[in-house]
Amino acid sequence: MTTHNYLADRTHEVEWSGIRIMFALADEIPDVVNLGIGQPDFDTPEFIRDAAKQALDEGYTRYPPAKGFADLRWAIAAKLKAENGIDADPDTEIYVAVGAMQVIFNTCLHMLNPGDEVIVIDPGYDYYSQIRLFGGVPVPVPVHESNRFKVDPADIKTAITSKTKLMIINTPSNPTGAILDEEILLAIADLAVKNDIWVLSDEPYEHILYEGHRHISIGALDGMAGRTISAFTLSKSYAMTGWRVGYTAAPKAVIDEMEKLMEHMVSGVTAVSQRAALAAITAPQDCVQEMVAIYDQRRHLVYEGLNAIDGISCLKPESTFYAFPNISSTGRSSWEFAKYLVKEHKVAVVPGSIFGRAGEGYVRLSFAAGMDQLKEGIARIARGVAALRA
Ligand SMILES: Cc1ncc(COP(=O)(O)O)c(C=O)c1O
Repeated sequence: MTTHNYLADRTHEVEWSGIRIMFALADEIPDVVNLGIGQPDFDTPEFIRDAAKQALDEGYTRYPPAKGFADLRWAIAAKLKAENGIDADPDTEIYVAVGAMQVIFNTCLHMLNPGDEVIVIDPGYDYYSQIRLFGGVPVPVPVHESNRFKVDPADIKTAITSKTKLMIINTPSNPTGAILDEEILLAIADLAVKNDIWVLSDEPYEHILYEGHRHISIGALDGMAGRTISAFTLSKSYAMTGWRVGYTAAPKAVIDEMEKLMEHMVSGVTAVSQRAALAAITAPQDCVQEMVAIYDQRRHLVYEGLNAIDGISCLKPESTFYAFPNISSTGRSSWEFAKYLVKEHKVAVVPGSIFGRAGEGYVRLSFAAGMDQLKEGIARIARGVAALRA
């Protein structure tokens, strides 16, 4: 990365996303099958788009309240209570954000002092830049395929020091598709309470679950309401990545800070996007379930297709639209393997090491893509692996 001495020191702590680097490579390749993209391939459901069109005609074209429209916050409070078991006061404990991403950024900004340690799961979603930007120190806790990539609370316990301020928990997990069961979450909550640690619970994939798996929000567990910042988003459940609407439930003091900063930063989430979000959240979840049913069919195809390739093994994802196959037997690093696949076989996947050191030996493949694309992508991966092993 080029750095310039006129830029503030803190900018050096922020890195370009590895996924973006990978896509820049893929963009140069004609006819590439891109299985790297982490967003639904569906259009936003029609009734949500219609609600947005109607909102424009009704005059939702002006500045919104900094923490979100009141009716949306009330609808979010009802959803959180019914689905997540979280009791949050819509006036003081809920904030509408520019995606879950802004909640992550705000949390690091409001909670971290230089030197504060933040426990993150490895491999896990990349929170490193946001943590470092505010002087925080990421402390990765490795998870293992042998344990279905579920964190062992004993490993978290070992990582806790007197400097630990925050733990970031992401269930269901991007990139591994692992779900943290109640027993694990209870143990993490116990560690948080006993050691006076805050939790950022990042839950974008709460609805994308298979085979009867259940999502549990750690913020709903005993003793956690006063120390949890729960991040949710419309992006994945409703195929609304471009609308940029997420929300958080957190103690009032934290929400106050978020609202205060919102005024200085972007003055609220785009009004029309909030109206679309209201329509989505207050409707029955048929559209979500229809998309999940389609992801599920693709999940089987990907799981079976990958495991049929000699030299690749893959756990069956419990959730999300990601598979995280083990490619270590190819003898290539995950970056080498991903670059080789995209350049020589025109199929883009994301190197596992982007998600932390323990992601080395894996790649992330998204099945938020049509069946034909998935079949073609897997055929190309199969040819690529066979050529390496020949
Ligand atoms: C784990 C995780 N957290 C946060 C985000 C950001 O989501 P949003 O679109 O709501 O900002 C993503 C998006 O891929 C994600 O996978």
